[in-house]
Amino acid sequence: MKYLILLFSVGFLPLCAQTAKIIRGPYLQNFTASSGVIRWRTDVPTESRIYYGKKGPEKNLMVEDGGLSTEHELKITGLKPNHTYFYSIGNLEKVDNQWFQTLPKTGSEKAIRIWALGDFGTGNRNQLLVRDAIKAFMKEKPIDAWIWLGDNAYGSGKDVEYQKNVFDIYQSDFFPNTKLWPNPGNHDYKDNKDSKKLAYYQNFTMPTDGEAGGVASGTEAYYSFNLGNVHVVSVNSEETSEDGTSIIDSTGLQAQWLKKDLAANKLPWTIVYFHEPPYSKGSHNTDTDEEMTKVREQIVPILERYQVDLVLAGHSHSYERTLPIRGHYGIDASFDTSKHVVAKESKPNHYLVDKIKPQGTIYIVAGSGGQLGKSQPDFPLKSSAYSTVALGGSLILDVKGRKLVGRWIGSDGRVHDEFSIQK
Ligand SMILES: [Fe+2]
Repeated sequence: MKYLILLFSVGFLPLCAQTAKIIRGPYLQNFTASSGVIRWRTDVPTESRIYYGKKGPEKNLMVEDGGLSTEHELKITGLKPNHTYFYSIGNLEKVDNQWFQTLPKTGSEKAIRIWALGDFGTGNRNQLLVRDAIKAFMKEKPIDAWIWLGDNAYGSGKDVEYQKNVFDIYQSDFFPNTKLWPNPGNHDYKDNKDSKKLAYYQNFTMPTDGEAGGVASGTEAYYSFNLGNVHVVSVNSEETSEDGTSIIDSTGLQAQWLKKDLAANKLPWTIVYFHEPPYSKGSHNTDTDEEMTKVREQIVPILERYQVDLVLAGHSHSYERTLPIRGHYGIDASFDTSKHVVAKESKPNHYLVDKIKPQGTIYIVAGSGGQLGKSQPDFPLKSSAYSTVALGGSLILDVKGRKLVGRWIGSDGRVHDEFSIQK
């Protein structure tokens, strides 16, 4: 009887499913403490099916979609928080080392590791070195969230560029088990100004209903999520808002949502990231660039109002970390340490947050994950605590309880900058 059932099942499988190959993914999207989305692409249309389970080879649970497609996207629900699951995609490829870990519950003080990478999808040697430096570094602790700071796929954010310069490069070591939270850069918008048609929006699944934490944004252009006791906000610095205003207008739809989202946040840590930095003397100059000036004048006051701890950006192909600052909306020459630095150090680069007088915000440009650029003649910023354009690298943030440690890992595998905030 068992034999007959097996014959019956195989006989009704679509013929193409038996020969299909995975040509992209699997990759992890929109993960929470209880659910997550896994996506992949096949060379010919097939059904979508994922086997998963707690004990590696057993994989006794399954989700599926019987429709035939080359673009596969399945949501798994009912997962336990902070648990590791192993999975495999349909019957296509037996890969037993594929796993994902759900996030801890919101508010949990479990240690969280974030990898922030900017301006990377070039296919150049620096991109590979930066990747390999993190691969070695993460052996001691895996990454809980992989944050992209924009300009993900050069030169125009086309799907073929995403394949060659992003998926092919990070697939074996990162995509199957690293939860990704993307942000678009100006290069990701060059393919098509109509955002719905961009490869960026076709390729990724972001939370729009507040399902990962925070206030529902109603759009994939900007969104927020929680990682344990860290609230993270992905702000868009690139497209035109749905109401026709600049998306970085302080009264536009995005800013209205941002204010609501930050006001509702009760977690002790807040990190905001977007592509175009408010402060940089790297390959772009925030004194003269119109868009970056707008970010500084329109968005920075909102971030300060809600005491955001850390702001991450790319765009300039440099690493630039400011002191904790507040109230500086003019050009770099107008920066005054005695007026704009709001910080208390336990020792250099290690900050203690005073409950009575909260510290300023630290702004970091980490845009040398692939691209490497020149700097302005007056590099670094007057507000700089540490900056370099000498080599590429990316940023690792470790948050545990009331302590945040940031380390910038160079393409040589060494830690070149380290800072901490203790609350
Ligand atoms: Fe850029």
